[in-house]
Amino acid sequence: MSIYILAIESSCDDTSAAVIKDGIVLSNIVANQSVHEQYGGVVPELASRAHQQNIVPVVDTALKKAGVEKQQLSAIAFTLGPGLIGSLLVGTCFAKAMALALDIPIITVNHMKAHVLAHFIDDPKPPFPFLCLTVSGGHTQIVKITDYLEMEVVGETIDDAAGEAFDKIAKMLGLPYPGGPLVDKHAKLGNPKAFQFPQPKSHGEFNFSFSGLKTSVLYFLQKQMAADPDFIKNNLNDLCASVQYTIVKILMKKLKKAAHHYEIYDVAIAGGVSANSALRAAIEKLGTSGGWKTYIPQFQYCTDNAGMIAITAHHQYLAQDFAEQSVTPMARFKI
Ligand code: KG4
Ligand code: ZN
Repeated sequence: MSIYILAIESSCDDTSAAVIKDGIVLSNIVANQSVHEQYGGVVPELASRAHQQNIVPVVDTALKKAGVEKQQLSAIAFTLGPGLIGSLLVGTCFAKAMALALDIPIITVNHMKAHVLAHFIDDPKPPFPFLCLTVSGGHTQIVKITDYLEMEVVGETIDDAAGEAFDKIAKMLGLPYPGGPLVDKHAKLGNPKAFQFPQPKSHGEFNFSFSGLKTSVLYFLQKQMAADPDFIKNNLNDLCASVQYTIVKILMKKLKKAAHHYEIYDVAIAGGVSANSALRAAIEKLGTSGGWKTYIPQFQYCTDNAGMIAITAHHQYLAQDFAEQSVTPMARFKI
């Protein structure tokens, strides 16, 4: 008999639902929340309210697009954490209620594990073991994966996440939230060597730090703007290209170090920042010039999506890893 799972993702500011049949994603619907743009970041209270409005139509559309009836479902999966508690609660309550009504089990999924397992939605799929650089708005991790559900974080940021660095620096440049994709867009027209920003000193073998870069960009901009109030406006593309160049350099340095240490040359990237064109190009270059095998997800599976929750839930279903109805969301949830 086939395994059909409905998966729900609501950890931050995207409401998403996906349907998976025997490990094949049939639908992946994402509703973004534009309400946060004007505030320069995600407002938790507004995010949970928007999830509450979006969740029914998003789930309905995912089921319709997949051509699957509720009664066919074998289980309902949802993101348990990490994330914003108010946002997570919407997905959790919805999934529990639906599973109760249908008398089917629930599967709780770790959002960070799911970013990694997004690589098992499409071909080519990485072999075990492989390393994954997971770079999102809330996390920056190097993960060593030995099996679908067996993974270990071997390095992470000690302060800001890479996506956070993109977004906060974008805000300094006057760009709306989320700034990462806009920095990427402007960087395409700029010179990455126009301005030099410092890279952090070592913070442990495979750990990252981005707060120093953020501060140095801030001081640099303050100094330049005092002399020329149009400095940002006149140099936006070069500033974006130089910041992006530095962030990608910091990420690649530690990823390469970890690969050499573990002698693992199957390397993947995941999370929202893996949509960044310079990071994708740097990873591709490792593959062409370094002879490494590299894995880059489709754009729809980089930023938050329920497809990645669905593929993770599929493997948890095979392992009979179900949760109790009494389970509650976790703002912090280690891999
Ligand atoms: O994985 P994700 O959707 O949400 C979290 O789990 O945090 O990642 C969102 C992050 C944001 O910081 C956003 O600015 C960044 O991913 N991002 C990008 C790009 N697309 C999304 N950063 C740089 N370049 C991009 N093209
Ligand atoms: Zn994410």
